[in-house]
Amino acid sequence: MDMATVKSIFKDDMLSGKTAIVTGASRGIGAAIAHRLCEVGANVTVCSRSTESVSQIESALKEKGYTVNAMAADVSLKADVEALVKETIAQFSQIDILVNNAGITRDMLLMRLKDEDWDAVLQTNLTGTMYCSREVLRPMIRQKSGRIINISSVVGLMGNVGQASYAAAKAGIIGLTKTIAKEVGTRGITVNAIAPGFITTDMTAKIPEDLQNKILELIPLQNFGIPEDIADAVCFLASDAARYITGQTLQVDGGMAM
Ligand SMILES: NC(=O)c1ccc[n+]([C@@H]2O[C@H](COP(=O)([O-])OP(=O)(O)OC[C@H]3O[C@@H](n4cnc5c(N)ncnc54)[C@H](OP(=O)(O)O)[C@@H]3O)[C@@H](O)[C@H]2O)c1
Repeated sequence: MDMATVKSIFKDDMLSGKTAIVTGASRGIGAAIAHRLCEVGANVTVCSRSTESVSQIESALKEKGYTVNAMAADVSLKADVEALVKETIAQFSQIDILVNNAGITRDMLLMRLKDEDWDAVLQTNLTGTMYCSREVLRPMIRQKSGRIINISSVVGLMGNVGQASYAAAKAGIIGLTKTIAKEVGTRGITVNAIAPGFITTDMTAKIPEDLQNKILELIPLQNFGIPEDIADAVCFLASDAARYITGQTLQVDGGMAM
């Protein structure tokens, strides 16, 4: 399990008293986001499909003195999402920030793509984001405030060979983000997306080295991102500094997609 290693530049009470849910928080970008939100004072519910993995991240964060609640939940299953939100409210009484980070890839050229792989990627990445967003809206509307931050991808903006399902899901997240932003803007809720470029995690470790080198050539800043780059963008969007930003997609990609 990896944990955020780069120190936060944000004030450690920036989100104190706030409660966040981070999906897919057992490793990679989600773990870094959970860690960063804890560092700036939020209470955080972490979830992933594996009880063992979320318990590990829960223990690691609790050892640092943070207030964390871990739950095994599969965002592609409506009942799991309902339980996730219910449990978070039971634990912390409110939900201020939802980070829809859980995501999977099942890469294959479209001609050979199996229906079940398409369905799995859309169900987790796009439908899961919709389930979680829909479920937190009622408590957020009641509170008259909330932040929903959806993790999309530059692939949703650019397309990518072998990633039809993933690109479609990530592009769908951008449309979903704008739509929810328009629907709940009057309720004090902002909804934004982040489109990471190539971030070093288990997900990108699967990409062959020669392809990684080709991707590197497309990045003006000439290095890959780290999970903390995304975690910092999440903290910004969750903070008061972003109060007037909604419906946007923030690219955190070293200039890859422009
Ligand atoms: N790495 C990149 O370069 C990159 C670029 C653009 C966008 N992104 C996006 O950033 C997000 C995180 O990526 P990552 O690189 O950190 O991936 P990762 O290392 O593969 O981690 C994915 C996380 O999601 C969880 N997860 C997967 N399916 C789930 C489900 N159905 N319900 C709940 N949790 C689930 C995994 O835990 P379990 O296996 O225990 O469920 C894990 O914690 C994804 O949405 C990804 O598409 C990543």
